[in-house]
Amino acid sequence: MPDIVMYSPTLRLKGEIEVAPDKSIAQRAAIIGSLAAGITTIHNFPRAADPLSTLGMMEKLGAKVTPKIPSETAVDLRIESSGYDQLEEPREVLDAGNSGTGMRLVLGLLAGHPAGHYATITGDASLRARPMKRLVQPLRELGAMIWGRQNANAAPLSLLGQKLKGGLVRIPVASAQLKSALLLSCLGGESALTVVEKEPTRNHTELMLLQFGADLMPQNNLSVTLKPSKLSPTEIHIPGDLSGAAFFLVAASLIPGSEVSIKNVGLNPTRTGIVGVLRQMGVRIEQQTNIFQGEPVGDLYVRGSALKAIQLGGEIIPNIIDEIPILSLAMSQAEGVSVIQDAAELRVKESDRLKAIATLLKALGVNVEERPDGLEIEGRAGKPFEPLEENFDPHADHRLVMTAAIANLLSAKALKIQNPEWANVSFPGFFEKLHSLIVH
Ligand code: S3P
Repeated sequence: MPDIVMYSPTLRLKGEIEVAPDKSIAQRAAIIGSLAAGITTIHNFPRAADPLSTLGMMEKLGAKVTPKIPSETAVDLRIESSGYDQLEEPREVLDAGNSGTGMRLVLGLLAGHPAGHYATITGDASLRARPMKRLVQPLRELGAMIWGRQNANAAPLSLLGQKLKGGLVRIPVASAQLKSALLLSCLGGESALTVVEKEPTRNHTELMLLQFGADLMPQNNLSVTLKPSKLSPTEIHIPGDLSGAAFFLVAASLIPGSEVSIKNVGLNPTRTGIVGVLRQMGVRIEQQTNIFQGEPVGDLYVRGSALKAIQLGGEIIPNIIDEIPILSLAMSQAEGVSVIQDAAELRVKESDRLKAIATLLKALGVNVEERPDGLEIEGRAGKPFEPLEENFDPHADHRLVMTAAIANLLSAKALKIQNPEWANVSFPGFFEKLHSLIVH
């Protein structure tokens, strides 16, 4: 258990950090890099559990990955692949661990692979409880053969790869995972596939497919067309994860006198909603975008600020979907009543995040109302939390662990976080980074 740091009037966050590499981009690099015949180099691949699970699945499909077990927080990886056509039929069950991205993207990839391989994909208890019909349904409409529990809504899922027909497919929920899975399903298909979303979602798959030479054409911000394509190996640099940086952005903005720089973080506009939302709440954040290498990357500088309430809903929600737990904590320290709506998707993440956030905020002494699709949060205008509970169960959800750790910096009495090691799903080294910034 890492040391819990609690509120004190002199506590500040000061310094410069890099955060764990982006797990969304890393998982796409592991998958797409394993489909391009030749050698792909991935710089700054994270040792986080989700990307490693996805990499493990690609190894079972024939990718040769070195070094074997990354021991650093991040590592430069080399993937040697015989190419998409030579993907092997896995001899074992594929294990996506805790990763929804890994399970859905690999499911799409294999369901559309023309070699007719048979595969079974499973995951941990949390992932086996997450809905898969939303992906299985559109894949079946394209001709995919998939079976599974609860009429193919829950893993373990089995499939028999098929050349899928192209055309146009509309995704029932705003989800980059579904969009990405469908795009990967058409790589070896009969003809082009156009995927139409309800709301714009992160476009890392599109950017990476382009980097590997795919014939992909965004039609507008809601629709993209991919023609069956041959991929060529390349070199990928993974930036820091803005979703990991979000914990430090909020922590520094909530603690007066703090000044934190976050270097080399991904600033893809489909993910930067958090920065805009915090600015609207009154947070002073400076942004410098440095490099464009497929993905925008830059530095953020944030200072302690007085926050005001905000109402969030509609199109911004997919952009900030992973930041809502920590944004809710920011709202609980703002002045006024904040509202989050149109966010029912949070109920089917690694945990029911609306319920878990409401439980955490109540334990901290915050007035919060849980709604079917969101939360109403009464801000404490900078007043430290007064926890009513001793323990918090983050339901094995990495983002809840990290949100609760930041809450402790603002609490007169510490909440004990159960199984804090779940932070490793996306951010190994999170607690060490946090400690490195604390000054009294
Ligand atoms: C992700 C997309 C989001 C996000 C998840 C990662 C991705 O999920 O919550 O953490 O890598 O595509 P949905 O696309 O299902 O909303």
